[in-house]
Amino acid sequence: MRILITGGSGFVGQALCQRLHEDGHRVLMTSRHPSRILSQLPSDVEVRRWASDFVDLPPEAIVNLAGAPIAASRWSEGRKQELLESRLEITRDIVALCEQLQVSQGRVPDVLVSASAMGYYGDQDERDVSEETPPHDEFSHQLCRDWEAAASKATQFGTRVAILRLGLVLEADGGMLAKVLPLFKLGLGGRIGNGRQYMPWVHRFDVVEMILTLIQRNDLQGPFNGSAPQPVTNAAFTRALAKQLGRPAWLPVPAIALKVGLGEMSTLLLGGAKMLPSRFQEAGFTFRFSTLGEALDDIL
Ligand SMILES: NC(=O)c1ccc[n+]([C@@H]2O[C@H](COP(=O)([O-])OP(=O)(O)OC[C@H]3O[C@@H](n4cnc5c(N)ncnc54)[C@H](OP(=O)(O)O)[C@@H]3O)[C@@H](O)[C@H]2O)c1
Repeated sequence: MRILITGGSGFVGQALCQRLHEDGHRVLMTSRHPSRILSQLPSDVEVRRWASDFVDLPPEAIVNLAGAPIAASRWSEGRKQELLESRLEITRDIVALCEQLQVSQGRVPDVLVSASAMGYYGDQDERDVSEETPPHDEFSHQLCRDWEAAASKATQFGTRVAILRLGLVLEADGGMLAKVLPLFKLGLGGRIGNGRQYMPWVHRFDVVEMILTLIQRNDLQGPFNGSAPQPVTNAAFTRALAKQLGRPAWLPVPAIALKVGLGEMSTLLLGGAKMLPSRFQEAGFTFRFSTLGEALDDIL
């Protein structure tokens, strides 16, 4: 298949690109810096600036991963706008590609798999969270809601749309683990706040499998929680990571310090959702890594 990835240079996108390439698919990619990333990619990957630059090389599937990193800096009003616009601009451009292909060729991509996040649900305390759970209205929800709504517009042109609400993606070379590992290795890790907030996690291997499943199974559409079936609290995550590294993790980070230091962005660390992959399980998806212990064993 010809598969277009936006954000293919990122933490999830690189692993996906490698897997698609190994499986014999033709990979197309968008990037803000096509010439900079070309040297890191297999030679037959075609990189262009926008999805709508691919009218002459129409993809059969699109995977939408691009967006400014959520936790890179404090959420000022300007930064919130940037987090939203960086996603909406690219997603609207994908929909524009679908429209152009329908008009010019009468054939659109079969499927769009568009990323979203557990943040869709906002803070949910300790209740179980399926795809049906009503969200808590806060910035992370508004961001994911608007991003998902923009992607869903591709259905107007006949493209099947599946939304992947990702939990914390785990692998050693990026994401949240790459940020906390140095501290934990020094024995400076600790739970955040009271540690009772849930951290739905997912091994990057299973994220790639989820994306492949959503591409291949034309009976799957709408939102899918992209996290392992056994989410853990922040305190349990902290204990598991410290145990895996054989280091102590006795230094809790007080909630008040995060609220003062990070402002509204502290909700990312102090809130959470016990997100469960209900629709993937109904669809018969098999997780390679169901427990955090198995995932950390593999990664570390
Ligand atoms: N990793 C996680 O734990 C996690 C959890 C929940 C949701 N997600 C979501 O899943 C998607 C993929 O995650 P990831 O960790 O692979 O993302 P990532 O590595 O942070 O970024 C993906 C790509 O987005 C592009 N990008 C970065 N800043 C941008 C900006 N200001 N404007 C437009 N494009 C920009 C970059 O591509 P170029 O530089 O090549 O343009 C980058 O490679 C993201 O949208 C993320 O929000 C991730």
